Amino acid sequence: MAQQVKAVIARAKGAPVEVATIVVPDPGPGEAVVRIQACGVCHTDLHYREGGINDEFPFLLGHEAAGIVESVGEGVTEVGPGDFVILNWRAVCGQCRACKRGRPQYCFATHNAEQKMTLLDGTELSPALGIGAFAEKTLVAAGQCTKVDPAAEPAVAGLLGCGVMAGLGAAINTGGVGRGDSVAVIGCGGVGGAAVLGSRLAGAAKIIAVDIDDRKLAGAQKLGATHIVNSRTTDPVEAIRALTDGNGADVVVEAVGRPETYTQAFYARDLAGTVVLVGVPTPEMKLELPLLDVFGRGGALKSSWYGDCLPSRDFPMLIDLYLQGRLDLGAFVTETIALDGVEQAFARMHEGDVLRSVVVL
Ligand code: APR
Ligand code: ZN
Ligand code: ZN
Repeated sequence: MAQQVKAVIARAKGAPVEVATIVVPDPGPGEAVVRIQACGVCHTDLHYREGGINDEFPFLLGHEAAGIVESVGEGVTEVGPGDFVILNWRAVCGQCRACKRGRPQYCFATHNAEQKMTLLDGTELSPALGIGAFAEKTLVAAGQCTKVDPAAEPAVAGLLGCGVMAGLGAAINTGGVGRGDSVAVIGCGGVGGAAVLGSRLAGAAKIIAVDIDDRKLAGAQKLGATHIVNSRTTDPVEAIRALTDGNGADVVVEAVGRPETYTQAFYARDLAGTVVLVGVPTPEMKLELPLLDVFGRGGALKSSWYGDCLPSRDFPMLIDLYLQGRLDLGAFVTETIALDGVEQAFARMHEGDVLRSVVVL
C-alpha cells in the first residue's frame, strides 16, 4: 500500500528546501522501498537546488544514504526485506557496450528506478540523482541497493553512496595508487580527504595534501597525509617536486574542479605519472595547456566518475575494512542533523571544519 512519509523537497530554483509529506508507492517489478536511516549532504544536492542541472521542480534531494529494505517488487532476488543496504545513484544497465565488455563502472546508461513518488496533491517528484533519500522512505531500483555488514553505523555507511566513494575510488580505482607510491591530493574537502585515506589504504609512501585552508590540511593529516602544503602561500608544484626528489608525484588527484588546480596537478606529476580529475568543473571552465607539454610529459590524464566504483565489489569491502578499524570512514561525519536541517547544512558546507553533515532518521 502506498505510504505517506516526510521528505525534503526543492520546490523552485534557488528557493530554500523544505520538509513536506510525500507519497511512496509500493515497489513495482525490479524495485525496492528502503527505510532511510542516514543520508549525507552532498554538493550536488546544493547544485540541484540552485538550479541549472535539472530544472523540473519540485524534486527530491539526497543521494548518499544507507537504510533497511522494507519491501521489494516482483523479480527482485539480490536484496530482501530487512537487509541493510547502501544506495547508489547509478544502477548499471547491463546492456550497453561498457557493461557487455565487463566494465560496468563505465556504464553511462544508468538504470535507476522510474520515479513514481508524488506530493499529496499528486504532483510528480523526480529525484535528483535518482534517489530522493532525504526522506523517511524512498523507492529505488533494486540494483541501487548493495547489502553490507549491518554492524556499520548508517551515518558512516551512507557516505560511500557518493562523495567519500568518489575520493577513495579516485585514488585506488582510477589512480591505481600502489604500495610505495607518492601521491599528491589537491583540495582536501570530503572528496580529497577520502583520496588521502584511500592512498594510505593502498600503501602510498608519501601523501602530500594541498589546500588553501589550514583546517582542511590539519584534517588531511589526521586522514594520513604525510606532508601538507598551503597553496595560498607556497607554490604547490614546486613543493610537491621538492618532496619527491625533484620528480613529481606518481599520482596526483585533483579534487577541486578548477582549471588552475588541474594545471597544478598536471605539472606536479612525475613524467609518466597519472593525473586524476575528480573535482567537478562547471560548464564554462576551459583548460589551456601547451600541447607540447602534454606530448612531452607522457603519463595518463584521467577523470574519475563516482570513483569508478563497482558498488557490489567496493561497498562491502570498504565497510569490512571500516569495521576492522583499518579505514577511518567515521572521520568524515562532522555533524549529524535532522531532516529539517538540510538547508542549514548547505549554508555550512563551505565552512572549513565541515567534511560532511549527515541527516540521521
Ligand atoms: N587550491 C587548493 N584547494 C582549494 C582551492 C585551490 N585553489 N580552492 C578550494 N580548495 C579546497 C577547499 O579549501 C576545500 O578544502 O578544495 C576543497 C573542496 O572541498 P569541499 O568544498 O568540501 O568539496 P568536496 O565535497 O570535497 O568536493 C570537491 O568535487 O564533488 C565535487 O562539486 C564537488 O567540485 C567539488 C569537488
Ligand atoms: Zn551499461
Ligand atoms: Zn553526491
